[in-house]
Amino acid sequence: MRKLRITDLQKMKDQGEKITMLTCYDATFAKEMNCAGIDTILIGDSLGMVVQGHTSTLPVTLDEMVYHTENVVRANERAFIVADLPFGTYEASKREAFHAASELMKAGAEMVKIEGGVEVAVITAFLTERGIPVCAHIGLRPQAVNIMGGYKVQGRELQMAAQLIEEARAHQNAGAQLLVVECVPTEVGEALATALCIPVIGIGAGNMTDGQVLVMHDMLGLSSDVAPKFVKNFLAVATEAGNGSIHGAFTQYIREVKSGAFPDEAHSFS
Ligand code: KIV
Repeated sequence: MRKLRITDLQKMKDQGEKITMLTCYDATFAKEMNCAGIDTILIGDSLGMVVQGHTSTLPVTLDEMVYHTENVVRANERAFIVADLPFGTYEASKREAFHAASELMKAGAEMVKIEGGVEVAVITAFLTERGIPVCAHIGLRPQAVNIMGGYKVQGRELQMAAQLIEEARAHQNAGAQLLVVECVPTEVGEALATALCIPVIGIGAGNMTDGQVLVMHDMLGLSSDVAPKFVKNFLAVATEAGNGSIHGAFTQYIREVKSGAFPDEAHSFS
């Protein structure tokens, strides 16, 4: 298996091949995802909710992110590895951001993800200038759930959509090499993928972005009784198709993202 690098993801965008990403927090699932052929693994701070049982991602610590990153990296052969900088470790000071990001890189991450708009682009610049690759996360930002007043669709009004494009450009100009956009109308996902040179990975952002990400527990139907609109239970689909296994769910997800079948209108906002 050839190890994927950020340059491979960029090539995929340039050649119109969709990029697949899933969250993962341990070695067993990382091995399964590698066998299925996932392009990118995100050690997301969503682990605070789906692994630790918190009601938000806010309580997750840097030590916990390091621990889960090490677990995933041990079993990873092919996928490009992105790890979340947790809440409170990067927003207020460049020095703190560099310290936290370097801990994740030492644990085996190949890129760190930070949430925020133009105000956080200065952190993107500081890290990338010092050799730490950055993925910016805009749109619905789970670490800002208390400011946003809940997990709501973002960028529905023209002015807010324009602001998202400005935020994305600020991160790209600051050196970000990947962008995640969460919970926006399909049209905004498409506008971002068109406006940016770097790959744009969507979650609840329609099927016109350069790739897709889902929380693993969500796409296995494990997370909550009422899943968000953009979540599809790929284990159920694989089971119906006679391949009801974790491997079957991962390969079904990869197939549907690569072909552009997922997300369809039923799993998107307009
Ligand atoms: O932490 C996470 O799982 C994420 C995804 C929702 C993109 O940031």
